[in-house]
Amino acid sequence: MGNVLLALDQGTTSTRAIVFGPELLPIATAQQELPQHFPSPGWVEHEPEDIWQGALTVLRGAMGSAGVEARQVAGIGITNQRETVVLWERASGRAVHRAIVWQDRRTAEACATLRETGQEALISARTGLLADPYFSATKLAWLLDRVPGARAQAERGELAFGTVDCFLLWRLTGGRVHATDATNAARTLLFDITRGAWDPELLRLFDIPAAILPEVRDCAAEFGMTEPEILGAPVPIRGMAGDQQAATLGQACFAPGMLKSTYGTGCFALLNTGDVPVFSKHRLLTTIAWQLGGKRTYALEGAIFIAGAAVQWLRDGLGIIGTAAETGALAAQADPAQQVYLVPAFVGLGAPWWDAEARAAIFGLTRNSGRAEIARAALESVAFQTRDLLDAMRADCPDMGQMVLRVDGGMVASDWTMQFLADVLGAPVDRPSVMETTALGAAWLAGFQAGMFPGPGAASTHWRLERRFLPRMAASEATRRHDGWLDAVRRTRSDAV
Ligand code: G3P
Repeated sequence: MGNVLLALDQGTTSTRAIVFGPELLPIATAQQELPQHFPSPGWVEHEPEDIWQGALTVLRGAMGSAGVEARQVAGIGITNQRETVVLWERASGRAVHRAIVWQDRRTAEACATLRETGQEALISARTGLLADPYFSATKLAWLLDRVPGARAQAERGELAFGTVDCFLLWRLTGGRVHATDATNAARTLLFDITRGAWDPELLRLFDIPAAILPEVRDCAAEFGMTEPEILGAPVPIRGMAGDQQAATLGQACFAPGMLKSTYGTGCFALLNTGDVPVFSKHRLLTTIAWQLGGKRTYALEGAIFIAGAAVQWLRDGLGIIGTAAETGALAAQADPAQQVYLVPAFVGLGAPWWDAEARAAIFGLTRNSGRAEIARAALESVAFQTRDLLDAMRADCPDMGQMVLRVDGGMVASDWTMQFLADVLGAPVDRPSVMETTALGAAWLAGFQAGMFPGPGAASTHWRLERRFLPRMAASEATRRHDGWLDAVRRTRSDAV
C-alpha cells in the first residue's frame, strides 16, 4: 500500500487537490477556479460538468507535480462546499439541472412559509438547523418541482440526489457508489442528527422521495475505488467530510470546547461539543462534526455568509484595492478617530440573525472618510461577526471557560486582521503553520481509514502553532466598538424601524 494521501477540496469558488506526505505535510497542490452563474438576483449555480472536470484536472495536476503514481496513494479524502445540491440521472450520470449553490436564496419564500406554519421547531429538533434557504432540502424540492419530469423520474428511482461530495464519488467510481458521509447528510434538512438516519417525517414535509437519497457512511470509510483510467490505476476513496467539518479535524479540535473559525468566502466557526448535540437557544446551528466508528461527535456552528467576499468587493466592486493582500496595510493607515462600520449583508445575514432580506450598509462616513477607513471597516466586520458567534456560543455553553480560537483560510494571513480579531474577542487567536486545514482534515480521514494514524484523541500531533495573537485592547474599548457594530446591524436588518 502507498503512503501518500490525496485530498480533494471542492469549494465554492475553486477546486484544489493537495498531495500530503506520510507526516501530513503538503507536497504539491493544484488549483482551478470554479465558475459561478447568477441567472437571477439571489440565484447562484454551478455547472456540474465544471465541478467534475475541475476535480479531474486538479487530482491529476497535484499527482503530476508531486511525481506520485496511483499505487503510491494510500487513499483519497474528499471535502466540499456543503449544502449545494446536484440531481442526476442514474443511467447516464447526467445532471438534470445546474447545481444550486448554498448561497442561493431562491427558496426564501418557501422557508418563510415553513416558519409561518410552525414547522421550524420540528426541523430544528431533528436536524439542528433552521428553515433557511442556505440548506439543501428546499433547493432539492425546487428542482423536483421545476425540472420537467423530474419528480416522476425521481419516484421511479431513476434520479440520484447528492451534495457535491456524493456527486464526485459517483463520478470517480464510475457510477458504482451512491453514498455520502454523516457531516454532509447533516446539512440537507432531511437527516436526523441524533439517530444518524434520514428522517421519514422530514422527507414527507419537503416532499422528497426516499429513492433518490444516498447511503450515509462514516467520515472514514471504504467509499469505493476510482475507475482505473481516471488516475492510471484504481485508488481507494477513504475519507469524506464537509469542508468546515474537515477544517475542524485539520485544526485538531478533537476535545470538547475546542473551536476553529475558517475565513474563506464566508466564515464558519465550529465548537466541538462532544458526543451529545447541544441544541442552540441563540440561533446557532447544531451539526455533526464527524462520525467515526459509527460514533458521532457534534458541534455548534456559526455560519456567516460574507467574510473574504467583503475584501473581494473592495477589489472588484469598489476598485479601491488592487489585491486582497493590500487590505491590511491600507486598513492600518485609517484615521483612528473615525469609526466607520460596514455591515456586509450582501446576501442577507447568517448566524445569529438569519435575515435573508437584509442588505449591506455603511455607517459613520464623514467628509474625511476614504479608502483606508472603508478597508478597515471591511476587515473589522469579520472580527465583529466572529464575536457575535462566540457570544452566542458562550450563551449556549456557559460553562466552557476561556476560549481559544484556531483560525484558517485566506484572510488569516493578515496579521493586522488577526490582531484585531483577538482584540475584539478578548481571546487568544492561534494561527497554525499548515493553513490548508480543510484539505489536511480530508487527508487525515483517509490516512486514519488506511491505518496510518491513531484515533482522534492521539492525533493532534499533526497540528503546529505558527503564531498566537493575544488581545491588546482594553475589554471596555472592545465592547464599546462591538456595541457600535450591533447598532449598525440593527439598522441594517430588514425589519429595522
Ligand atoms: O456551508 C458552505 C461552506 O461549506 C462553503 O465553504 O469554503 O466553499 O466557501 P467554502
